[in-house]
Amino acid sequence: MTRITFDDQTFVTKKDETVLHTLLRNNIQVPYGCKAGVCQSCLMRCLGNTPPPTSQVGLKDTQQKQNYFLACLCKPESDITVTLPNTESSWLEVEVIEKIELSTNVIFLKLKSKEPLAFFAGQFVNLRRNNDGVIRSYSIANIPNGLHELEFHIRILPNGQFSRWVADELEVGMQLSLSHAQGDCHYVEEKSEQPLLLIGTGTGLAPLFGIIKDALSHKHSGEIHLFHGSRNESGLYFENKLRELTQKYPNFHYTPCLSGENVSEKYAQGRANQIALEKFPKLNGWRIYLCGQPEMVLHTKRVAYLQGASLKEIYADAFTS
Ligand SMILES: Cc1cc2nc3c(=O)[nH]c(=O)nc-3n(C[C@H](O)[C@H](O)[C@H](O)COP(=O)(O)OP(=O)(O)OC[C@H]3O[C@@H](n4cnc5c(N)ncnc54)[C@H](O)[C@@H]3O)c2cc1C
Ligand code: FES
Repeated sequence: MTRITFDDQTFVTKKDETVLHTLLRNNIQVPYGCKAGVCQSCLMRCLGNTPPPTSQVGLKDTQQKQNYFLACLCKPESDITVTLPNTESSWLEVEVIEKIELSTNVIFLKLKSKEPLAFFAGQFVNLRRNNDGVIRSYSIANIPNGLHELEFHIRILPNGQFSRWVADELEVGMQLSLSHAQGDCHYVEEKSEQPLLLIGTGTGLAPLFGIIKDALSHKHSGEIHLFHGSRNESGLYFENKLRELTQKYPNFHYTPCLSGENVSEKYAQGRANQIALEKFPKLNGWRIYLCGQPEMVLHTKRVAYLQGASLKEIYADAFTS
């Protein structure tokens, strides 16, 4: 049992509880997103003492030295005093300039910033709702176009705090806050002849679509294989766009996969990761991108490694929620 002091109030942690959980349990409003050490929106700083190293995974050396840590990973072993960093200046104001329903549960959102944005397609940003500070991570589906625009595919969860609000209340002209782009799930120009395998479930297509566009715009000469999986047809949004790309670029291959019942001949039947890994049993020399459902991402990463892929060549974004 340890004590956490925040804003002159002290709270006692429960067994195995993180700093984030202790504060939220006591109705203290602090920012957070994924609760899994990915989005870094729960960044805090220890005053006077050092946080456990396991809570600093993924932070820059300079942040680690200044005792910054991720509250969702931090299970303190001794009493600590913590504070929020002054991060207001790191958020950018963006405006919704387009909102389109791509399928019954996926929305396309285009945001525009007044200031230049530095990003690679496939990286993710945190979006913050301005009225109450709720934050969620979303992957960037477009390549930089010089117009300071970002595109997203957002899956609507029936009771999702953020995604439901995007569907029901967010309108063109409204403002949101945006963090800088993070993550290494993006195309790299070197080795343009390398075969690429991209596997995504649901809106896991968002970063993969951006990566494919980036690779094709850089004249990637290696084979590019995309496997997009869903339970039913409505989850396979962008089907026409992707089929058009296969016509235009002979090295791009698209396999839409359905794991539900009564699957039409147009689609491969089964889970996208299983179909892809069976088709390509030897993955030595491939670069692999995995995005979407966390269980699929973790499992496929392990199997791809066992089938010969180098861990350094596997880029993954698990959409933890
Ligand atoms: C790096 C990263 C990138 C991401 N990129 C994207 C992206 O490009 N597009 C995208 O759509 N999402 C993406 N996500 C997920 C996104 O950040 C949110 O977690 C998601 O939109 C849910 O937020 P919410 O506030 O709507 O739901 P919340 O209010 O946070 O509720 C989520 C809860 O819904 C429940 N839930 C989960 N799955 C289902 C389901 N199938 N049916 C019913 N309930 C369910 C779970 O209990 C979960 O706790 C990404 C996540 C990460 C970490
Ligand atoms: S890293 Fe802690 S909430 Fe995302």
